[in-house]
Amino acid sequence: MGKRHEQLHLGAFIYYSGHHHAGWRHPDSGVEGMFDVKFYRRLAQTAERGKFDMLFFADLLYATNVGQAVAGMLEPLTLLSALSAATEKIGLTATVSTTYNEPYNVARKFSSLDHISGGRAGWNIVTSQLDLEAHNYGRPKHPEHSLRYEMAKEFVDVVTRLWDSWEDGALVLDREAGQFADEAKVKPVDYNGEWYSTKGPLNVPRSPQGYPVLIQAGSSEPGQEFAASIGEVVFTAQQSLEAAKAFYESVNSRLGDYGRKRGSLKIMPGLSPVLGATEEEAKLRYQQLQELIPEAHITAFLSAFLGVDLTKYSLNDQLPEIPDPVEASNGMKSRVQLVMDMARNEKLTMLELGRRMLGARGHLQFVGTPVQLADLIQLWFEEYGCDGFNIMAPVLPGGLDDFVDQVVPILQERGLFREDYTGDTLREHLGLERPSEGHFRAGRSVVQERA
Ligand SMILES: Cc1cc2nc3c(=O)[nH]c(=O)nc-3n(C[C@H](O)[C@H](O)[C@H](O)COP(=O)(O)O)c2cc1C
Repeated sequence: MGKRHEQLHLGAFIYYSGHHHAGWRHPDSGVEGMFDVKFYRRLAQTAERGKFDMLFFADLLYATNVGQAVAGMLEPLTLLSALSAATEKIGLTATVSTTYNEPYNVARKFSSLDHISGGRAGWNIVTSQLDLEAHNYGRPKHPEHSLRYEMAKEFVDVVTRLWDSWEDGALVLDREAGQFADEAKVKPVDYNGEWYSTKGPLNVPRSPQGYPVLIQAGSSEPGQEFAASIGEVVFTAQQSLEAAKAFYESVNSRLGDYGRKRGSLKIMPGLSPVLGATEEEAKLRYQQLQELIPEAHITAFLSAFLGVDLTKYSLNDQLPEIPDPVEASNGMKSRVQLVMDMARNEKLTMLELGRRMLGARGHLQFVGTPVQLADLIQLWFEEYGCDGFNIMAPVLPGGLDDFVDQVVPILQERGLFREDYTGDTLREHLGLERPSEGHFRAGRSVVQERA
């Protein structure tokens, strides 16, 4: 066992047929299976063979540019329901947006998934990113960043009230007496808030985990505050151990304000591994992938991401002086900041910057051997840069096979990762408490009392 008493956590982040922007074009990609459940069944079973804590599916609410780039994805909760029948232990987590849903729908769907999977569900709470998404929901514009977080806070509050509307043990199922449930334990929520209202109760009893695990994936100031208030897992993109440690400390140091203990939240940055038997082999693989990215995509991507027209500049130059793109962004503010830091600190040309971003979308890119990767994972974990990683294979399914077959055994040998599951629910894998009713509301009242 290393320097920490607990073991690290691993998520298998599944995105298209691989995370790399051009990974779908690689001869090894399973792109033909992207809309076929068999492809995902195989990935889920591989991750479970590797004893991963969870599978994670991102979600975007639009399809664009379909002529040139990979696009479209199966609706993740539908997919996870199917995968729950093909697996036994692994956690099943997915993004659902608070901006384009109603709390009652979301509470019901995640509670159902938690029942169906025997307590393995987790919700990645995001506020979505683009006007393109707003247009699919009859809205002219995507709401403003801080407003979205305000709405998300209320949204999650309402969802947890709905999950609490059935107390544990409310089901009686007494055939003789004709009593289905104990009415005293099933209460309406009668919620009338600023943006949402619902009467309740939910039409699904409290689920095996009490609440499905709450995951938060924003890293801006309001994102971190939101994570500290309700997040049990935090997904993030970090480029260096130094930045990861600062982020780890920044989020953890806020927990006390919400009456929460350290350890009640697990921070898992993304990690994109390109592996080879030797460093040279790994570098060659990475280079082959990078060369599949068309240069025109780089200009288009950077222009859209930074909100400026870069078509008149040469890709061989560094970024020109531009108005503060973080201020201007209404999408992923922390990621725009990360790109700007990367460009300026490392003096990258736009070609290098674009390739880096389209390779792993700002997450940590690793190129090397399995032992070198295990060393990196161990270092970040032991230095409190994270509690584990979300593994983002650049090309699927092979990238996940390689990690499970070549890296997991080294982590296990070093005592850093479980040899087998010791629990049945996602909360048990993550070492998280099963929340009692009013869990996070109790935390908030602590803050109010102090204020
Ligand atoms: C691992 C990870 C997964 C994410 N998945 C999604 C997703 O599926 N859909 C989405 O709209 N945003 C997703 N995001 C983006 C976040 O919701 C958020 O916009 C982003 O991290 C920037 O946060 P900020 O606006 O607080 O800076 C993800 C972020 C991370 C780190």
